[in-house]
Amino acid sequence: MKVFSGSSNKPLAEKIAHALNLKLSPLEIFIFPDGERRIQIQEKVVDEECVVVQSTAIPADQNYMELFFIIDGLKRSGAKDITVVVPYLGYQRQDHIFRDGEAVSLDVVAHAMEGAGATKVITFDLHSIKIPEVFKIPVVHLSALPMFAEEIEKLGDGILTSPDMGGLRRIQKMSELLDNMPWIATVKDRDLETGKISIETLHGEEHKIKKTAFIIDDMISSGGTMIKSAELLRKKGVEKIIVFATHAIFSNDAPELLQKSLIEKVYVTDSVFVSKEKHFPKLEILSIAGEIASSLKASSQ
Ligand code: R5P
Repeated sequence: MKVFSGSSNKPLAEKIAHALNLKLSPLEIFIFPDGERRIQIQEKVVDEECVVVQSTAIPADQNYMELFFIIDGLKRSGAKDITVVVPYLGYQRQDHIFRDGEAVSLDVVAHAMEGAGATKVITFDLHSIKIPEVFKIPVVHLSALPMFAEEIEKLGDGILTSPDMGGLRRIQKMSELLDNMPWIATVKDRDLETGKISIETLHGEEHKIKKTAFIIDDMISSGGTMIKSAELLRKKGVEKIIVFATHAIFSNDAPELLQKSLIEKVYVTDSVFVSKEKHFPKLEILSIAGEIASSLKASSQ
């Protein structure tokens, strides 16, 4: 097996290769003055099982183009198969038409990956369990929830919280992992025109609220969802709020807002590379490299 990395999350790719007792295979990514990229696979891959690691968070478009070119380079160099590890799958929130005239962006990027030559996708905590159906190639959908459950066990008793109704399946699964820990949801409304969110009501058994709440979500982008959910929980009497989200997208000033918020600690994974400038004291990053390496090992012939 040969593991290649795009430029979006090399530290994770290195950890995955290390867990497989491999080194990353060489690849040149040359950037022309106009920003276009030239990819060259610098190792023989004829009849080899090849893996490409690339997260497609900010800048999503650039990371996707790079990924398509790496897949194409591998295919043209004779790779036997090409497993694409996309720990964070960009455009996954645009998986259907919300308003007339919109594009289904996820469908476009999925088919571009397949068209370039990807034969399998490994990804983490998708926004919706229906997303794998968009692909014609196999999709392995892994989850950070068991890892988060282990951390919550160490933190003690509390109530699990989904920050929106879209996360009910996730929170129920988490509750099962934690011996049926009680759960509730805060109800989020998002204005589709402005993107502005409001969270003013609770769903579920309010009487089960505890001093500590663990809010679980798939991703943090602007931080607004987590922060507003935390504010409502505080109004309802929760003292300690700890959040867990698989994907640290951290757009704009999310790190500063989270640091200043009522939230006591923010657990994320390394599915998206978080640069040093985006680190903040409340942040804790857990690695998913081991899960990805195990999945690759299990399917390797
Ligand atoms: C959306 O429903 C997702 O599950 C997340 O809650 C959302 O994308 C987080 O975005 P933000 O951090 O910008 O509120």
